[in-house]
Amino acid sequence: MSAGNTMPSSRIAIVGVGQVGAAAGYALILGSVASELLLVDVKVDLRDGQVRDLSDVAYSINSNTRIRGATHHEAGQCDIVVITAGSKSSIGETNIQHTHRNVSIIRSIVTAMTPFRTDTIVLIVSNPVDLLTSIAQELSRLPKFQVFGSGTFLDSVRLRGLVADKAKIAASSVQLSVVGVQGDSQVVAWSTATINGMPIDKFLAPDAFPYADLANECKHRSESIIRAKGATPFGIGSIVSSICSSILVDRGDVRPISHFQPEFGCCFSMPVVLGRKGVARTVEMPLVKDELADIAKSAKRLRDTLERIRRDE
Ligand SMILES: NC(=O)c1ccc[n+]([C@@H]2O[C@H](COP(=O)([O-])OP(=O)(O)OC[C@H]3O[C@@H](n4cnc5c(N)ncnc54)[C@H](O)[C@@H]3O)[C@@H](O)[C@H]2O)c1
Ligand SMILES: *[C@@H]1O[C@H](CO)[C@@H](O)[C@H](O)[C@H]1NC(C)=O
Repeated sequence: MSAGNTMPSSRIAIVGVGQVGAAAGYALILGSVASELLLVDVKVDLRDGQVRDLSDVAYSINSNTRIRGATHHEAGQCDIVVITAGSKSSIGETNIQHTHRNVSIIRSIVTAMTPFRTDTIVLIVSNPVDLLTSIAQELSRLPKFQVFGSGTFLDSVRLRGLVADKAKIAASSVQLSVVGVQGDSQVVAWSTATINGMPIDKFLAPDAFPYADLANECKHRSESIIRAKGATPFGIGSIVSSICSSILVDRGDVRPISHFQPEFGCCFSMPVVLGRKGVARTVEMPLVKDELADIAKSAKRLRDTLERIRRDE
């Protein structure tokens, strides 16, 4: 019997291998998450360049992950498809026009992958993540628990790190979630935050600890990274690898993930149990009134945007 790596056979596709897609691939290879990694991009030269560069990573660590270029259709037959395709805004383009362009990219990708293998899991990373997850879910015709977005998972680990650094404790001793619609209106669920199980405000007194400043810094951190270096590949790349591993290993990790919210008719982040079939179940958070009201307000706005997009098409 071989004593080698016993990683089960599993295939992950990354659609859109720009900065974020490549960093996700890098993290997936280092973590030995999949036995095969399929890269897809409309820019075929870029795709093939990424295949060669990432293959060097696999060679250098004697990895069992094989990397190859693929079509959209092949991607739709994998265990997991990660969508990291996007478009930079062009000069003179309004926000609405850019949203429409982003929506049409997701539409064309999902359409090109359809019909999916019936148990394929689709992870949306492209922004605006909640809107695009809602659209991909409808279009894919897959069960809702198989299509979800990275949502506020990165924001949650980011804020946890900022709080931990400020409080001079380990991030692993801080439990907190950012939930709701990712971006300007995301909500920090402070009422449920704990330090090793103790309510956080018992440990870090609100009059002495800068809760609001840290939440604000968390919210604007992506912008500041993009201003400085043009993209935010590594943080989200690592999150993608973590989500894929939670799924394939079926560990039952509880994570804030953008998924369908029946009460609001759209997708946004709340904690879920991640498993081999996708979202195994959602976790009810005992939020306070203000938090619930903020979430409802931004969910309603997202719902309106979705309806406007449907009407315009
Ligand atoms: N959810 C999050 O927390 C998070 C964090 C960081 C970035 N993002 C998002 O990830 C996306 C990618 O960012 P990036 O910096 O890598 O951009 P990028 O421009 O470097 O890469 C995007 C790639 O998508 C490709 N693409 C476009 N249309 C395609 C299609 N139809 N099929 C296949 N590929 C296609 C492009 O050719 C390009 O290579 C953006 O939407 C960004 O906002 C999300
Ligand atoms: C469109 O997508 C790009 C990245 O792909 C993102 O940076 C931008 O915020 C999105 N724009 C809008 C208006 O949704």
